[in-house]
This record gives sequence, C-alpha cells and structure tokens, in this order.
Amino acid sequence: MLAGKRVLLIIGGGIAAYKCLDLIRRLRERGAAVTPVLTRAAQEFVTPLSVAALAGEKAFTDLFDLTDEAEMGHIQLSRVADLVVVAPATADLLAKMAGGHANDLATTLLMATDTPVLCVPAMNVRMYEHAATGRNIAQLTADGVRFVGPNAGDMACGEFGPGRMSEPMEIVEAVQGLLADGPLKGKRVLVTSGPTHEPIDPVRYIANRSSGAQGTAIAEALAAMGAEVVFVTGPADAVRPQGVAVVEVETAAEMLSAVEAGLPADAAVFAAAVADWRVKGAGASKIKKVKGKLPSLEFVENPDILKTVSQMKKGRPGLVVGFAAETDDVIANAVAKRKRKGCDWIVANDVSPETGIMGGSENAVHLISEEGVEDWPRMGKGEVARQLAQRIAKALD
Ligand code: C5P
Repeated sequence: MLAGKRVLLIIGGGIAAYKCLDLIRRLRERGAAVTPVLTRAAQEFVTPLSVAALAGEKAFTDLFDLTDEAEMGHIQLSRVADLVVVAPATADLLAKMAGGHANDLATTLLMATDTPVLCVPAMNVRMYEHAATGRNIAQLTADGVRFVGPNAGDMACGEFGPGRMSEPMEIVEAVQGLLADGPLKGKRVLVTSGPTHEPIDPVRYIANRSSGAQGTAIAEALAAMGAEVVFVTGPADAVRPQGVAVVEVETAAEMLSAVEAGLPADAAVFAAAVADWRVKGAGASKIKKVKGKLPSLEFVENPDILKTVSQMKKGRPGLVVGFAAETDDVIANAVAKRKRKGCDWIVANDVSPETGIMGGSENAVHLISEEGVEDWPRMGKGEVARQLAQRIAKALD
C-alpha cells in the first residue's frame, strides 16, 4: 500500500522514541522505504544502530558529517521523501519548528523540506496543555503541518492525560491517508460514526441501534480516494475502517471534543447517531435497586455537534455534511434540518423498521443541498459511500 513511497522519519528525544522501532517495521512491511534521522536527544532513547538495522538504511544524526554532505547534502536529504514524519514530536521540537530554528540536522531538514510534514506529538500532559505548545501547534497547523495524536492515557512519567504518542499503526494509517493517490489527495476529511453511549451510572447506559456501517464505509471510500481521514466513532459494531486515523469515543460530549481536536478539515461528514440527551447527574455510584421504588431519570440536552461545526465562525470546514435518519416525512424534515443546522448537505434516509436500513447492509438516500433534492436508488452502503465520496471530491475540487 506504500510501495515506492519514501518516508523521512525524524526521531525526537522522548521516551516514546522506542515506538519508532516498530513504526519503521510497520512502514517497511507496507512497502515504504524509511530514511531515519535522529536528534541528539533521540540517541539517548534509541540507538542509531537499532534504527538503521530496522530501516535497512543509514541513520543520519549529524549536520556536519562531511562525508554525508559530499554523498547527499542535507537539502537533498530533505527532498527525497514523499513525506516527513516527526515522531516523537517533543514540545522542544515543535517549538523549534514553529519558530523556524535550524540548528541541527533534524530542524535544518524540516526548514529545507518542500514535502508534507506529519508530526506525532508526545510529551508530558502539562507540557502538552501548556499555552506555548498550543500556540506552536496552532502555528504549525496554519503552516500546513499535519498532526496525528496525541492519545490520552497513562504516561511514562506517571501522570494521566493527553500526551501519549499515537501507536505505530495509527501513525501508519495517517501516513497512508497522506500518501494515497486519488482525487482527494491532500484533503483532510473528518467523519463521525456509530452511536454514542450516555451513562446512567457507571454500569448502565443509554444507546441506539446505529451499527456504524454507513459511517465506516464513507471513511473507507474517502481514504481510498486519497483523503486523509479522521474517523471519530462511538462504540459501534462495525469493524474499524482501514487507512484512517481512528478516534474512539463514548459520549456525545467526548465526540464533540474529538471533532474539535480533529479540525481543521476541508470537509466533515457527520454520520454518527448522536444521542440527543444524556442523563443528568450520572454519577460515579451504581443506582441501587430499592424494593417498591423506581428510579427516575432526568435528561439534559447533548451538544449538537453538526450544528456547532456548521455554525463555526472561524475554521468551519468548507463542506459540512449531515445525516437525517427519519421515520416520517423524510424529505420535508431533512430540508428543514439542513436550514436549522446550517450544514451544506443532508443525506436523508428512512429508517422505519420495515426498510431494514438501520443495522442493514443497504441504504436508500436523498441528497439535499441548496440546489434541491436528489433521490438515489437503494444500493449497498459501500456504494452510497463511494458515490458520496465522489460528490465530496467534486465539491472540494
Ligand atoms: O438532529 P438530528 O439528530 O436529527 O440530526 C442528525 C444529524 O445531526 C446527523 O448528521 C448527526 O450526526 C448530527 N447530530 C450531531 N449531534 C447531535 C445530534 C445530531 O452531530 N447531538
């Protein structure tokens, strides 16, 4: 899948550098060639020898290695790749990149390159949440640098939160998304999918019947056409799509945060069946069964993710697509929904039980835009996804 592609892998100085050894193997398994570069600090965590052995190529470390300058200048080294991956992208490396520093081989290559750059941040949670890191990431995003991760979780430093480097396969998926050829090459599309689970207490939750099949098919179709896809999914049954960056969430509130973190994007497709309400005050203790007494649940409204993104003043994706799953007056409801939410298109479908669409393999949709209503014939969810991806490609062209 990555045959003939070359990745320049800049390894930064963080404990997560060990994951780069596996990353190199995963990239090479898929046919990519990897040119490794280690910062001085990276060499405290992994050795050039192990990196070179796995890459099957020389590991570069020093800007002033004259032999290399004669064989391959640093400018050339920065240009031979189809993609530059910076992993782990430490707080220091991000700051240097944002500030345009070029005082070692890694930063000089990053300044000299004209190929796309994918950063994989990894750092202590406080460092990640520091305003300076936020500024640097915002600056780099504005400069066109792409990001994958970080994930939240236990950290080597003993703290918990965002800052863990993405796993090698998540990075490979992001790399594949960026390097795949097709009409959506260079476009970033965010897709939400699946149901959300809203807790009643720590062991019970409210859910819906969405399988995530249509959203998954859309993510795969977009990735197959070359898009870099961020796939934000609730706890869906559908097997996760290939070739995309997957973000797993549970609740509507988590889905909104993941969507906001996934922006900016050229387009966003909101296929998730987000719960409209969550249980007020769902706490940390299990509700006890009391004889003769039924619990009463109070609900509060969930954020409307589609509406929030559609109505963003700054950073709204150029194309926002919502879904309308209806059981009555499908088209009239969907036309009104498009206006109310402020999205560009609505993909509407009838999910009455007799249609067999919810949880089934087929779909019969209507595409509603400013131009009017198009009725698509009933077809497999994969085909709906491919046709929708083609329309998205045309709209973003
Ligand atoms: O309002 P309704 O749920 O019918 O709208 C459906 C569309 O809105 C879908 O695209 C769904 O993904 C999105 N939605 C959302 N956040 C919500 C509710 C719905 O993004 N809280």
